[in-house]
Amino acid sequence: MFISKFRVDPKSLNKNSVYLLSDGHKMPVIGFGTWQVKDGEEAYNSVREALKAGYIHIDTAEVYRNEESVGRAIKDSGIPREKLFVTTKIWNKHVTYEDAKVAIDASLKRLGLDYVDLFLIHWPNSNIFRPNYEKRNKEVWRALEEAYQEGKIKALGVSNFMPHHLEALLKTAKVKPVINQILISPSDMQEEAVKYNELHNILTTAYSPLGTGKLFSQELLNDLAQKYNKTPAQVALRWSLEHGYNPLPKSVTPSRIKENIDIFDFSLSKEDIIAIDNLKGKAGRASNPDVVDW
Ligand SMILES: NC(=O)c1ccc[n+]([C@@H]2O[C@H](COP(=O)([O-])OP(=O)(O)OC[C@H]3O[C@@H](n4cnc5c(N)ncnc54)[C@H](OP(=O)(O)O)[C@@H]3O)[C@@H](O)[C@H]2O)c1
Repeated sequence: MFISKFRVDPKSLNKNSVYLLSDGHKMPVIGFGTWQVKDGEEAYNSVREALKAGYIHIDTAEVYRNEESVGRAIKDSGIPREKLFVTTKIWNKHVTYEDAKVAIDASLKRLGLDYVDLFLIHWPNSNIFRPNYEKRNKEVWRALEEAYQEGKIKALGVSNFMPHHLEALLKTAKVKPVINQILISPSDMQEEAVKYNELHNILTTAYSPLGTGKLFSQELLNDLAQKYNKTPAQVALRWSLEHGYNPLPKSVTPSRIKENIDIFDFSLSKEDIIAIDNLKGKAGRASNPDVVDW
């Protein structure tokens, strides 16, 4: 059974627990996802609910087109900025160093923040710049490094990077990525990528931890939910934490937003974790970043 070296001892896990990143920053063990959350009321209200429920980390992206509403919800929450962890991502259309510099500032402006805690390259090998991903990522990374030096970004990372994309980036990166945000659910554990991340002291953040909703029809999760007196979503998210991943559940439903962070009062047995690992392939897999048409 895979156990991440970043894992927090399940006995001491609580909603304020953090992972210690290799650059010394701390990252909350669970975050709130905002993909497909509509800009305006939906994004604003969901993020307000999430912050009320106790999420400290909010994950957005330029391409989600909701940074402005996310930023407004953060500001109106009245929670001191330093208590929160905000992630955003640079989209594929920014290919040059100059363009990336403008895009980073534009994200900060939409969010209404002086800095973000984490900025990621969203996708390693888009059809916009394929096959020149190495050059493009190197240029964008240089712009991110400058923003990092200027204090506009606290930590740098990547998303959807497989080992060969990271190998290429690490050849020239002066600041090493500390996070790789990839799809991780019981249906796809992406072992090779996770192993590579660990070797390079990169924490794996688990996006689509609920299989974008596809996991719930799995009988095993429903059986375990009954056994632990929890819901299938809570079992799946607890499974993610027990491995030492950093799940980012998304919901626009207030009761589910609360439910998804109410996962710190139970622990899964080793046998049940292994049984969930065996759901492999049953509820979708990650896209191959080298062949997608975006
Ligand atoms: N870096 C990337 O390329 C990338 C790609 C995908 C996702 N992400 C990040 O990861 C986050 C999560 O991934 P995701 O959006 O694919 O989906 P997810 O969190 O795996 O699943 C969300 C779906 O499950 C439903 N749901 C949530 N909690 C539930 C519960 N307790 N019971 C029943 N249904 C529940 C939601 O419905 P309702 O909303 O209607 O409640 C929604 O349909 C994203 O929002 C984004 O921040 C990153």
